[in-house]
Parts: sequence; C-alpha cells; structure tokens
Amino acid sequence: MKHMLPPLPYGPAALEPHIDARTMTLHHDMHHASYVEKLNAALEKFPELQERTPTWLLRNRGKIPEAARTAVHNNAGGHVNHSMLWRAMSPQGGGEPSGVLADAIRRDFGSFDGFKVRFNDAGGKLFGSGWVWLVSVRQDGGKLQVETTTGHDNPLTQGHFPLLVNDVWEHAYYLKHQNRRPEYLEGWWAVANWEEAARRFELARASAEEELQDEAGLAVATMA
Ligand SMILES: [Fe+2]
Repeated sequence: MKHMLPPLPYGPAALEPHIDARTMTLHHDMHHASYVEKLNAALEKFPELQERTPTWLLRNRGKIPEAARTAVHNNAGGHVNHSMLWRAMSPQGGGEPSGVLADAIRRDFGSFDGFKVRFNDAGGKLFGSGWVWLVSVRQDGGKLQVETTTGHDNPLTQGHFPLLVNDVWEHAYYLKHQNRRPEYLEGWWAVANWEEAARRFELARASAEEELQDEAGLAVATMA
C-alpha cells in the first residue's frame, strides 16, 4: 500500500485569522505532502514494511533495516504528527474542555490556565524544530503531562498517548508571526480542538494497550 496525504478536515482559510490560509496551504500541500512522498520512497525497497501503518513504523524504529531507518522514522513521524495536528485544530475550536478531560486537567495542572501556561512555556522554550504535546501516561494511571519532542518524534514512542498537539517548526508560523513563536502559541488556543482531545482521552481510557499501539486514534490515509 502507498501512504497518502489526508485531506485537511476544513478549508485552508477556515482557521483565519489565527492560522492564515497561505501558511495552511504550504504546510499541508507542500510540507506534509513531502513527508508522505519521502516515506513512500524510503519504503520502496522494503515490501515487508509497506503494509505497516505509519504509527507502527514510528514505534518500531529498531525493526526498520538500517539503510532506511532514519528516513522512515523521520518521514513516518512527519506524516503521523501532521495528521494529528490537522485534527487538533478546528474552526469551532477554542474555549475550554469539559467533562472528564477538564477534571483531569485540573487534577494534574491545578487549573486550565495553569495547563495553558505550561504548554505555551514548553513550546516557546523548545530549541529548534519540534512539537508540543498534551499526553496521557498510561503507566502513571493516565496522568496528563505536557511534553515536547524534537524533529518529528512522537510521544507514542515512549508509550505516551497524545491528546492535543501543536507544531512549533518555523514553517508552521513564520509567514505570519516571523520569529514571534510565543505570539503564535498564544493565538493558537482560539482553534484548539477540545472535542478531538476529549475523544482521544476517552480512547486512551477505554482501549487496551495493544489497540492503542498501532491505530493510536488515527486513521491515516493509505491506498491499497
Ligand atoms: Fe509542520
């Protein structure tokens, strides 16, 4: 099977003014597309890996032949992370979470504002290109944590389940915000998709570990 670029779940201008249409178009149609293309190219000589999902490829770095390991890892990560990112934002986003997710955020960060400060701070301080995440840690009773990863790494490789994510690579904000990453992070809350985060939190709570390992709440597009 070939990996495919999933369509954006909304139009490129749907998140204006917080995420401008030009950035969205470049980010999805050029950057994400290129990770998918390079992932397919890296897998060309390895038919046994072509049936694996991108999340499996990401989580099983040691099982990838060395010749393709770095390219597969980086590009599967780019593909998975961006697929998660599009869903972590919504034109109906913003506001605050409700229900059990809101309770868990209060339990683990003291308050919703405390969580936002932690997330903005982690994303702002990350050196170079990477991602900032809200994750649920099953090994720690489902505790919520803010984490960052560099390059296109994903908390799934540590067994941590992502609920919400933002991209702090410069390509995600430079056209509109130039070097003002904190301004981008602050504005981003207006489009944060709490419905999707709540769905993923429920998935993390209700699913067996094996079920989470591969699907990971993500139906990544492929073509037979
Ligand atoms: Fe990106």
